[in-house]
Amino acid sequence: MIIFDDKSYRLLCCDGAAGLKEIEKGTVKLIYGSPPYPNAERNYGVWKEKDYIELISPFIDGAQHALSDDGFLVINVKANRSKKTASKASKRSLVVEKLAVLLEEQWGFSCVDIEIWVKGNPAPTGLRVACQDAYEQILWFSKSPKWEINIDAIRRPYSDHSLDLYKDYEYKARENGLTYVRKNKSITPNPLGALPQNVITCGVMPNKTTHQAVQPLALPEKYIKACTAIGDIVVDPWLGSGTTGEAAVALDVRVGHNCPICRANYKKLDWKSKVLTPNPFV
Ligand SMILES: C[S@@+](CC[C@H](N)C(=O)[O-])C[C@H]1O[C@@H](n2cnc3c(N)ncnc32)[C@H](O)[C@@H]1O
Repeated sequence: MIIFDDKSYRLLCCDGAAGLKEIEKGTVKLIYGSPPYPNAERNYGVWKEKDYIELISPFIDGAQHALSDDGFLVINVKANRSKKTASKASKRSLVVEKLAVLLEEQWGFSCVDIEIWVKGNPAPTGLRVACQDAYEQILWFSKSPKWEINIDAIRRPYSDHSLDLYKDYEYKARENGLTYVRKNKSITPNPLGALPQNVITCGVMPNKTTHQAVQPLALPEKYIKACTAIGDIVVDPWLGSGTTGEAAVALDVRVGHNCPICRANYKKLDWKSKVLTPNPFV
């Protein structure tokens, strides 16, 4: 588990759920992470669909404890399919949707959005019974029903098409009132970029490390930018190869702090070793 607090960081080699509960209550602005995926057989084990809610519950309890009232919980996860049997076809699990509902109903979080990561180069599954699996979900929840994110920090470049269109196009008010504008309006592009979308499009990571589920930096980057300011604390309870750490450090560097670390540093430590290691590299 990794905790980023104000320029420095702490890497705790422990069970992520237990680690969350050891953090001072109400101090974390963002918990971002990617748990083991339902039904996925990995070298770090399998969280079966039938046990999934029970297995993830201690992490959500821990998140509730650690998050500040204005904090966010962001979970990147994909529901794998169950294996077919003699009497049943392979079925897409709904446990991610169940988790999203429970985050509101059982834990009292508020849904900011369920975003989609569209994978440009999805791994072939050999599946022939349904379409190829090419996306993952990102459950974006707020601890409080009243929340605010930094939209400007995650704006994106305008497409050439939009910029061309805005040059001389005027959005027209319709008489039936079903319209986004009340009076004719031309659009001036925002110098910070276009409004962000709730879809992230990027490829899966090439298998450069021994970790089986390294995620692209663009994922943690987006939510760190949108949910935190310098000095806020970010925690990933399922650190894996350390992508969240890499993103958080890179963003600190972006605003002038110097905290060099590379992915290789994280690989030296294994959360299973149960050693509590505060500030190993600072
Ligand atoms: C989907 S991977 C996350 C990958 C990570 N986002 C990355 O980019 O490398 C899930 C990770 O959770 C870790 N994990 C599983 N159970 C855990 C636990 N109880 N506490 C902490 N980490 C755990 C696994 O070892 C695995 O590295």
